[in-house]
Amino acid sequence: MSNIEQTLSIIKPDAVERNLQNQIKQDFINNGFEIIKEKKIHISKEEAEKFYKVHESKPFYNDLCNYLSSGPIVVMTLQRENAVMENRKLMGATNPVDADEGTLRKKYGISIDKNSVHGSDSLENAKIEIDFFFNH
Ligand code: CMP
Repeated sequence: MSNIEQTLSIIKPDAVERNLQNQIKQDFINNGFEIIKEKKIHISKEEAEKFYKVHESKPFYNDLCNYLSSGPIVVMTLQRENAVMENRKLMGATNPVDADEGTLRKKYGISIDKNSVHGSDSLENAKIEIDFFFNH
């Protein structure tokens, strides 16, 4: 039985700055994802705070929001079978030093903050995050 899902992916400022967006988009396509929607934007700190609200209580929240609003990002809706889990597998561990060989964060990530990509962590959050960027 097929289980087609959509998930939200963000190519973060460190990757856009290094002009890696086409390479990363090709990685998604090579791994069976279809890019349904896509836009390059530069969000404000307030928007980043809303987006990362689940991390509000974390010690890294302020730095995280400053970072996501520090430069252009590429936001995409990705679709494939089991998209949420498959995207998380493709991204690898949050910290690039812990990420498996061949994953996006291993290939492109610089640090736990500059880890090149964000992906929704559940189907429920995927809907909220897609809505946040594309239905406002
Ligand atoms: P992301 O998947 O975008 O979700 C939240 C981000 O917080 C995460 O990737 C990391 O880039 C960043 N972050 C910074 N410090 C930490 C930490 N100690 N644990 C988890 N995430 C962190």
